Amino acid sequence: MEDKFCFDVLVIGSGGAGLTLAIKLASLKIRVAVLSKFALTACSTYYAQGGISAVFDAEDSLESHLNDTLDSGAGLCNSEIVKLTVQHGKDSIDWLRKQGVLFTEEHTASGETKLHLNLEGGHSHRRVVHTDDATGKAVSLSLIQRAQKNPNIELFENHNVVDLITESTTHGKRCVGAYIFNSSKQRVETFSAKVVALATGGASKAYLYSTNPQSSTGDGMAVAWRAGCRVSNLEFMQFHPTCLYHPAGHSFLISEAVRGEGGHLILPDGRTFMHRYDERAELAPRDIVARAIDHEMKKRGIECVYLDISHRPAPFIREHFPTIYQQCLEFDIDITQQPIPVVPAAHYTCGGVLTDSFARTDIENLYAVGEVACTGLHGANRMASNSLLECLVFAERASEDIKQKLRQLTTPKNLPLWDESKVSDSDEEVVVSHNWNELRHFMWDYVGIVRTDKRLHRAMNRVELLQKEIAEYYQNFRVTSDLLELRSLVVVAELIIRCAQQRKESRGLHYTLDYPETDNSQSPKNTILTPKNYSVLE
Ligand code: FAD
Ligand code: SIN
Repeated sequence: MEDKFCFDVLVIGSGGAGLTLAIKLASLKIRVAVLSKFALTACSTYYAQGGISAVFDAEDSLESHLNDTLDSGAGLCNSEIVKLTVQHGKDSIDWLRKQGVLFTEEHTASGETKLHLNLEGGHSHRRVVHTDDATGKAVSLSLIQRAQKNPNIELFENHNVVDLITESTTHGKRCVGAYIFNSSKQRVETFSAKVVALATGGASKAYLYSTNPQSSTGDGMAVAWRAGCRVSNLEFMQFHPTCLYHPAGHSFLISEAVRGEGGHLILPDGRTFMHRYDERAELAPRDIVARAIDHEMKKRGIECVYLDISHRPAPFIREHFPTIYQQCLEFDIDITQQPIPVVPAAHYTCGGVLTDSFARTDIENLYAVGEVACTGLHGANRMASNSLLECLVFAERASEDIKQKLRQLTTPKNLPLWDESKVSDSDEEVVVSHNWNELRHFMWDYVGIVRTDKRLHRAMNRVELLQKEIAEYYQNFRVTSDLLELRSLVVVAELIIRCAQQRKESRGLHYTLDYPETDNSQSPKNTILTPKNYSVLE
């Protein structure tokens, strides 16, 4: 193993969670490596639009943020975790401003300058701090710039985690590094670290239509599961209600903030419909809005519904939503004049690797931060703009814990190198592309917004077939990025289906025609899956 791959902390992921953690650790003189599967900006964080929730408005309160989050989470949020998170909203925004993020401000009548706050679904106050409608880009670019300038951080683009390396301990397992596929050099490298943090984002790419970039293939969840971590609540896959419906639109998101500023959802004949589903209408939590759209589309056999903000003055629309305005215009949709065709798409993975309030997983020295984790904040449905907040708060919590821990740890030595002696180059890459397509189609059709036992059963049958085929392929051929992603997706698809099969009720984002009611006869339970131990070292 080369010394150049030995670090105090290995952070896998360069989104909001990974870079925040790295910058905080590096400020304590800790040597950190940050890996990114593709370019540093190829992450969900970069594409975030609406903003980051935090209590700034004089009329708002931490209690109200807490209650709205609990309400959106449909009885499954961990209230201690919610409390801890909302309490750190303001500090997190202040920290980002110190890193150079410029948030949108407004001038009050008395000449004061303050942060402009968006309103989004589920929030009973304006509390979403933002940079126009491209908050993620502002956050991502500032953090990347900070990380690039920090001598304690080394950034590795095009580095894809294959598996974690663990050792047995008297109590269980400890993480000592990871096998990493360097896709520029087409070889697997061995990284050793005293601590490893997964910050690999979500798994929305398990679905045919998704608002997420290519990186969201659930790799962190899959490697953690294979190494022996429990996962939780993966049945709660969030579908964003309003993704642009256009053949060339590549699932471009139309921010919830458009509805916050008065945007109406309408049918092709111009009638509104959300008031029939919830008294909060367009500003109901996401699960309700996405399900209502899905229902209307299926009932009427229509391909999309429309989001109309054209009743607001054109300069207001252009000023508040410059990115959305411009992007739609490129598809010949002038949102100041006409409604936007929209459909729901897979957007956010509420479940993930089970962690405690310091982002610690079941494996010693292994942390999970951001969308990859299940902290208990989101329960059965994440409230809009609580995700970036979670990334920031739990990166801070993890950095505090890692700082204490590192003093007692030594650098792991002599990790086994990657063995390629029994594999050759693939002669049939069509297997990978075919299975990718198949998986995303059946996840969309059978494990989507509305589920049934039969659909879940059908999906599981297909997953089992794919798993055999992919395992065989993986054993015989050299790894490629596509193969690694497919190998993750098939694990995560199985975990999503298994979680969904265990929940015999409808709650939050999990809706099944076989159990359409929420079971209030007992206190709500999280779904927790425990893996068989099949770590790569054992
Ligand atoms: P990401 O930002 O997705 O970063 C994951 C990182 O892990 C990437 O660098 C990726 O390359 C890397 N990675 C993945 N797999 C591997 C691997 N195998 N090996 C090495 N590296 C790997 N949330 C809000 O709170 N407010 C919003 O306004 C908002 N808007 C959104 C808009 C869109 C279009 C999308 C897609 C999401 C939005 N969200 C929003 C959700 C939020 O952006 C994400 O949940 C959050 O950014 C996740 O951050 P993260 O750091 O956990 O993961
Ligand atoms: C949006 O801007 O609608 C996305 C917000 C989020 O996912 O939290």
